[in-house]
Order: sequence, then structure tokens, then C-alpha cells
Amino acid sequence: MKWEGSGPDPSKVKLELNVEHLMLDINTSIPLGLIVNELITNSMKYAGKLKIDFYPQDNYFILKVSDNGIGIPEELDIENTKSLGLQLVNSLTEQINGQLTVNRKDPTEFKIIIPGNQFLVKLK
Ligand SMILES: Nc1ncnc2c1ncn2[C@@H]1O[C@H](COP(=O)(O)OP(=O)(O)O)[C@@H](O)[C@H]1O
Ligand SMILES: [Mg+2]
Repeated sequence: MKWEGSGPDPSKVKLELNVEHLMLDINTSIPLGLIVNELITNSMKYAGKLKIDFYPQDNYFILKVSDNGIGIPEELDIENTKSLGLQLVNSLTEQINGQLTVNRKDPTEFKIIIPGNQFLVKLK
């Protein structure tokens, strides 16, 4: 069937998901969901293949959204964009006491480190 909606063609998007089953505090999970949503939307816009990783490491949790796309333009100041998407990512990351680092290309990767005490129970 031909895709007639707006936005990226879902049949052209490949997703690799590596996430642990965790129970999150609601004050962390809601902002985190919004962050993931923004990053995924961007990866679908600018790339064909994206990967999401979410896992604990020491006393932190790591979220990575990466893609194989065109890369983030050199002149773009990620912490000071006029566009709403990355503004939201920056302010929500701050809200959950996270730290954002970005690799611009090959792969384009947004990595957010979040203090682990904001997460409740590891389920399995
Ligand atoms: N995954 C990505 N790959 C390449 N460029 C990106 C990616 N994510 C963000 N960008 C760049 O950062 C800019 C700002 O992103 P964003 O604030 O989400 O705005 P928008 O999605 O409306 O373009 C984008 O216009 C694009 O140039
Ligand atoms: Mg966006």
C-alpha cells in the first residue's frame, strides 16, 4: 500500500530497539518519553535507519538515539536552536538532571545520561 500520510514513509524507516524493561518514576518517564519522541522524529526525517538504546550503567541510565543519516550541520548550535524540537530536548534533559552529548555524524547520536536514583525498579 502506498503511504499517503504526511511525514516520513514508515516502510522506509528501519528501527533497532535495545531497551531494558524498567519501571520509571513518572517525573522522569514523561519528560523522557517526550525527548525520545523528538529524537525519533528527527531521525526519521533525516535518516533511514535509527537505533534506540536504553540501559543502566553504574549509577546512571543511558539513552542513545542514533541514526545513519546526513548528520547534523556543523553550523548548528545544538544547545541554542530556534526550532522547538531540540529546545524541548535540551530543557527536558535539564529537567531530569540529564547530560546530553551529541555525535554529529557517522553515526548521528544523541546520548543522554540520567542519574539512576530517578528510576525505581528493574523488572526483568
Ligand atoms: N537526526 C538528525 N540528523 C540530521 N540533522 C538533525 C537531526 N536532528 C536534528 N537535526 C538538525 O537540527 C535541526 C533542529 O532540529 P529540531 O529542533 O528538531 O527542528 P526540526 O525537526 O523542526 O527541523 C534540524 O533542522 C536539523 O538541521
Ligand atoms: Mg524535530
